[in-house]
Amino acid sequence: MKVLITGSKGQLGRALIKLKPKNIKIYAMERTNFDMLDIPSCLKVIKSIKPDWIINCGAYTNVDLAESQEEAAMNVNFHAPKAFAQEIKKLGGRFLQISTDYVFSGLNRNKPYSTSEKRSPLGIYGLSKANAEEAIENIFEGTNQGIILRTSWLMGPFGNNFLLTILNLHLKKKEIKVVNDQIGSPTSVFSLAEVCWKIIKIKDYSIIKNKTKNGILHWHDDGEASWYEVAKIISNVGQKIGLINNRTEIIPIKTSDFTSSAKRPFYSVLECNSTKSLLNHENMNWKYELERNLEQIYLNKSNRYSFNPKHK
Ligand SMILES: NC(=O)c1ccc[n+]([C@@H]2O[C@H](COP(=O)([O-])OP(=O)(O)OC[C@H]3O[C@@H](n4cnc5c(N)ncnc54)[C@H](OP(=O)(O)O)[C@@H]3O)[C@@H](O)[C@H]2O)c1
Repeated sequence: MKVLITGSKGQLGRALIKLKPKNIKIYAMERTNFDMLDIPSCLKVIKSIKPDWIINCGAYTNVDLAESQEEAAMNVNFHAPKAFAQEIKKLGGRFLQISTDYVFSGLNRNKPYSTSEKRSPLGIYGLSKANAEEAIENIFEGTNQGIILRTSWLMGPFGNNFLLTILNLHLKKKEIKVVNDQIGSPTSVFSLAEVCWKIIKIKDYSIIKNKTKNGILHWHDDGEASWYEVAKIISNVGQKIGLINNRTEIIPIKTSDFTSSAKRPFYSVLECNSTKSLLNHENMNWKYELERNLEQIYLNKSNRYSFNPKHK
């Protein structure tokens, strides 16, 4: 089976490649051979490969910068996946779009979002991903070719993520201020990659269409937390396993005390039960997954590559 992965140098792309099952041939696309701002060139690549699947991990993921770079964010996150979906539909392949909890506002909310709830993004990043979802739903309506997998708070041992940022801040700061009033669910890139491969191995896709709203699935690690709680666990476990040697204080602050360009949801936990039963797959608690990622970083520490978020 031929699987084209966009954004293959990103954190999810790399985890997918690491966990590749047997009998899958991966076509790893990155900015240099597949610039998502150049849609016609990308379509030529898709036509020449004729993949059975596209997993669209490529995305403009800088939530704050997207506010001032709306055109680029919309092109990468909305127009490109829309065009890829149209093309793969014609070619008879399938499309797995990775989407986000940021399609929801999380305002006045304290219970997980179901897959059928109305999108309500707060910022440009969320809007661009929400627009893509809507387009993909329409393109694949009445077919079994399109799946949208929403996830949240992705973390792993490589790339740009909160886990590596907090580790790096421990090297430089005596105290780190972290917001305590935004609640979500951390997700290990490896647990998400596993789910992506499970989806691709499903034998009968009509089940997804029958059991979900327009092919939308949710996946994150089990449980919920604030960014502050996640930072505390990173700090405590990091010290316990010898990854962090200095004592840095983690201080809880409110979103209103923190300046950022984009608004973020206060509560963006996703209801994952339907995906769990559909895939017959359980999600482990986020603390367990975080600990596994910290251990992985510890093992890689000798070459430090994974400790520097700038080095992808
Ligand atoms: N990170 C999260 O917390 C989070 C949460 C929920 C959902 N998601 C979604 O999950 C998916 C994977 O996220 P991630 O964390 O793995 O993202 P990531 O690490 O930022 O990777 C995104 C990849 O997209 C590539 N990309 C950006 N612009 C491109 C362009 N014009 N042409 C080609 N490639 C381009 C990037 O390439 P460069 O390396 O060259 O920039 C990068 O390799 C995305 O769809 C994201 O929206 C992420």
